[in-house]
Amino acid sequence: MYNTNINNSLLLWYDKHKRQLPWRDINDPYKIWLSEVMLQQTQVNTVVPYYKKWIKNYPTLLSVAESNMDDLLKLWEGLGYYSRCRNFFKACQIIKNDYCGIIPSNINEFNSLPGVGPYISGAVMSIAFNKSVPAIDGNISRIMFRYLGLRNKTKHNKKRIISKLITFIKLRPGDIIQSLMDLGSSICKSYSVKCGECPLSHSCKAFLHGFPLKYPIQKNKKSLPKKNIIAGFVQKNDKMLIVKRKDGGALGGLWELPMIIVSDNSNTSLFKTSLKNKYNLNLKINNKIGDIIHSFSHYRMNIAIFNCENVSTRIDYSSNNNIIKWINRKEIDNYAFHKANHKLFELLEKNNV
Ligand code: ADE
Repeated sequence: MYNTNINNSLLLWYDKHKRQLPWRDINDPYKIWLSEVMLQQTQVNTVVPYYKKWIKNYPTLLSVAESNMDDLLKLWEGLGYYSRCRNFFKACQIIKNDYCGIIPSNINEFNSLPGVGPYISGAVMSIAFNKSVPAIDGNISRIMFRYLGLRNKTKHNKKRIISKLITFIKLRPGDIIQSLMDLGSSICKSYSVKCGECPLSHSCKAFLHGFPLKYPIQKNKKSLPKKNIIAGFVQKNDKMLIVKRKDGGALGGLWELPMIIVSDNSNTSLFKTSLKNKYNLNLKINNKIGDIIHSFSHYRMNIAIFNCENVSTRIDYSSNNNIIKWINRKEIDNYAFHKANHKLFELLEKNNV
């Protein structure tokens, strides 16, 4: 069932060419798991500094379990897909409480944890626990489609690439998985290949057919839908208003300047009504400060930001309410904001607001 030749070729290549990365050549399942959570949807170069900073602050699973969501989200700030962080925190708490702090190597137990899907499960089982469980990310998928000479990403073909990958991962499964990741990032890329240097080319159907870049068929990227948004720089006595997003969704639990989605972002009356209804604040909306555009994975935000004053007579500055705070500009760094806010803060600086 196993393809020993491929297993050997990949390991030989990996031992010579593997990237030196901070989560490699260690055997701490906590660190390996964290790295894979960060690497899901995010490039290696972006992850490295986040990973190092996180490990410095939270060297063990227990230190995460005993932390709190706000501090963890602050460390995750800018990495995106914040549900990864929220789920990782919840999973660490479950492991502390139900598994005596030890990450279960039993695949069914591990799979029951929040945020653990087939990719994380395969990556952690193979890399941290040396089990022959496949993990398929974008790089591995592309390599396997090419290896089998498959062009269409149908369900049936996806099953075929998983079955084939399983035949590769006999010895040192974690290193096989990571060798494919490294091949995908250096030799078998989406838009360029160096088949002469590839340890799989002798049996790669896409190479043997002569046009490896035609495999698999790339879908045209759809343009992102737009959301028009009004945001407010709401001030009262040198403090500005920030609000916390509800848990859940990609940006849940993060802080932001108050903002709402509208069809026309010059119509500020809706913004005024919304802040009255949500927070019982009376706003006077002054000049527009400017616009920014920010693209998230699934949509593009067009944000118009307005200078606003809070003209409510009573406000409770000492309120330690969890969803609304009045902060000094110098305190921005104490809170986790999603990226669009940092663009808005830059705009405020540029405009000397
Ligand atoms: N992408 C996802 N996991 C990775 C790993 N362990 N090494 C390199 N790139 C990766």
